[in-house]
Parts: sequence; structure tokens; C-alpha cells
Amino acid sequence: MSATIIDGFAVAAGLREKIAADAAALKASHGVTPGLAVVLVGEDPASAVYVRNKLKATAECGLKSLEFKLPAETPEAEVLALVERLNADPAVHGILVQLPLPKQIDADKVLGLIHPDKDVDGFHPLNAGRLSVGLPGFVPCTPRGSQILIDGVTSDLSGKHAVVIGRSNIVGKPMAQLLLQKNATVTIAHSRTKDLPAVCRTADVLVAAVGRPLMVKGDWIKPGAIVIDVGINRIEVDGKGKIVGDVDFDSAVEVAGAITPVPRGVGPMTIACLMLNTLDSARRAVG
Ligand code: GUN
Repeated sequence: MSATIIDGFAVAAGLREKIAADAAALKASHGVTPGLAVVLVGEDPASAVYVRNKLKATAECGLKSLEFKLPAETPEAEVLALVERLNADPAVHGILVQLPLPKQIDADKVLGLIHPDKDVDGFHPLNAGRLSVGLPGFVPCTPRGSQILIDGVTSDLSGKHAVVIGRSNIVGKPMAQLLLQKNATVTIAHSRTKDLPAVCRTADVLVAAVGRPLMVKGDWIKPGAIVIDVGINRIEVDGKGKIVGDVDFDSAVEVAGAITPVPRGVGPMTIACLMLNTLDSARRAVG
């Protein structure tokens, strides 16, 4: 049996269309265009691609973007000053500082300075806290997008066992919180987890967010499980670069009930949810 392949690209396209319509309505009713400021420090090639894709999606959704490209040697104080300026700018509803930052810059300090009401990445400790106690706030884009994909294939997670592999603040922990809100029984597995394949085999929903190419094999998966692959890993195959997930798709697709591919799975949803968070922020700003 072969799994349903969850088309994140198509779901994200539909979501972006809805965001564009809602942004146009907000403009008509309140004269406000949601604005996203994107800050990129340095020349990390992967970050440059991510930022380009984010800016492209912003334009497609009819949102306004402001791009700040700073040299790699920019002092921390300059980045902090920029964040303060963006915090105070009423045309800016969302601020995204692309990670990783160069080593002279303390990322926690920068992320902690972003006003929580403009923290469309959902990385500020206040928003992490809001999520953990069930208050409204910004939810990080990758978990938000992953949850939308899960909701698209199952309407009831109550009592289901969800296993999240990875305990990052950006994906693993917020993903676990979202699944908990849906009444799943949640396990966060990580590099010190004993017998990870056995833990994964108990999962009705398996979210892989570890950054290890092709780690999760078909025989780690419970038949019929929902498998969400958050990994975006570049590997060499026959001398050519290839993007693969954390899940060995070819073996997993034979066992899972539904599975996201890489590319065209979670990745496009992350960007669409950044647009959604920016729209939400602009709506809150107008009351
Ligand atoms: N670097 C890799 N992913 C992300 C993300 O989602 N947000 C930010 N700000 N930086 C990243």
C-alpha cells in the first residue's frame, strides 16, 4: 500500500491566495497594507535563498516588504538599533531577522528585542510562553504550517500518539505544543532518546525535525501513520546536489498512511504561514 502524498505546495498556494484576498480586504476597509521587514546579515547562501523566497511570496500576497541586507561584519549594536527602529515603525507589522547570525551577534539578544506584537517568526520568549499556556500569540511558521497539513488529513488527534523528533525552539517544542492542544499524547524524541526507531513505531503522527538526511526509514513507521518531514537537507547523489528530508521517502511511502514529500511538502507552508502571521499582525494592529 502506498501513502497519500500531502501536497504542501498546493495547500500553500491556496493559503497564499486566501491571504492575498484578505490583505486586499484589509486595505479596502482600513487603508492598511501588511508590512514585513526582513533583515539578512551576511552572505550565507542558504539564508539568501530563504530570504529571496520570503520576499517573493510577500509580493505575491500583496503584502509590502522592506529588505535590509547588512554586511557580515555589522556590529551587534547596529542590528539592535535597526530592530528598535522597525519596532517603532507603524508601517511594519512583522519583523524577521534571518538566522543564523554572524558570531559577533547574540541571536537571543536580537530576537528578544523584537517587539512581541511584531514577532511573526514566533521566536520571542513571550510568544513561546503564550503558546505553552494556550494564549493567543505568534506561532512559529514551520509548526503552524505542519499542523495545517496534519489537519488536512485527520480531523481528530484526540488520544493519538504524536512523536516529534527534534527539540528545537523553532520547530520541535512548538510543534509538540500544537499537537498537545489537539489532545494528542505527545512524545518529544531527540539525540539522547533510547531506541528511537522503536519510539517512532508507536507514533500515529510522526514529525521529523532533526536535520539528518534520510534518517527515518520505512521500518520506523507504524502502518498508516501520518508522517510530516520538516527536514531540508542538501546531499550529493552521483555528483549532483539534491534536497532531501529527514525521512527516507521511498521506504516510508510504502508504510505511512499520509506523508509529506521534500521538496513541496512543509517548506512552502513555512513561507505561507509567515505571510499569515504578518496578515494576523496587521489585523491586530488595526483592532
Ligand atoms: N533560518 C532558518 N529558518 C528560519 C526561520 O524560519 N526564521 C528565521 N528568522 N531564520 C531562519
